[in-house]
Amino acid sequence: MKEFEFMLAPMEGITDPEFRELCYRKGADSTFTEMAMIAALSRNNQSTLEKIKITDAVPTYIQLIGANEDYLETFLKAFKPVPGFMGFNLNLGCPSPNMINKGFGSALMKRLSKVNRLVRIIKDHDYPVSIKLRLGMNNYEKKKKIYLNLINEVDADFYVVHAKHGKQAKSSLSDFSIYEGCVATGKVIIANGDIKTREHIKFLRSVGVRGAMIGRPAIKKPNIFKKLKKGDS
Ligand SMILES: Cc1cc2nc3c(=O)[nH]c(=O)nc-3n(C[C@H](O)[C@H](O)[C@H](O)COP(=O)(O)O)c2cc1C
Repeated sequence: MKEFEFMLAPMEGITDPEFRELCYRKGADSTFTEMAMIAALSRNNQSTLEKIKITDAVPTYIQLIGANEDYLETFLKAFKPVPGFMGFNLNLGCPSPNMINKGFGSALMKRLSKVNRLVRIIKDHDYPVSIKLRLGMNNYEKKKKIYLNLINEVDADFYVVHAKHGKQAKSSLSDFSIYEGCVATGKVIIANGDIKTREHIKFLRSVGVRGAMIGRPAIKKPNIFKKLKKGDS
């Protein structure tokens, strides 16, 4: 990872290999696949395998969503890394009721031993593993700072913190004030949510965040990575 890494966020239906390559050429240091269901991958579901396909050695993290350890093990036994593969990312951020009802995504935020077991399985296969999280399922969990428990107790390589809780509307803004507390854990923290300007990058660097993950702003302007990098270093 760079001293400050610019990442393209995982976005369902958007971050296919072509878009990831475009953003890479426009300055993203690394990219993420959209979330892929662990259960479907373990069954070799072709359309799900398609989602995690990496082409042209574009630096890519594969994002997984799910909670079943056996399925994860089955998938990893069959998995063959290709050039560009950087590691796995566990989705602990998705707030969609569809996923929450299954106990996936941000429903896993407080299940620390479960998350640690999933992380351990990936590590036992010698693959890097990171986590993408929210601040909690709702404002109460955010206030109780359950995200800090997760960052402290789970042993992953880095943590992408989407600075919103699960009940916040899409239009409401991310809370940049939480990053200092995350960095104080001593872990590698990547910021995500509403990062658009060089001032944002300056601020994130000043508090010790190690990278910025950018999603929606890159859809219309993939060039944003180069632009943000210009004022940076
Ligand atoms: C259309 C769309 C699809 C998304 N799909 C995923 C996903 O598959 N996995 C995930 O972790 N986050 C997903 N997200 C959330 C983004 O990765 C990111 O956390 C969020 O958009 C905030 O960053 P931004 O303000 O830079 O867009 C999605 C967001 C959008 C807009």
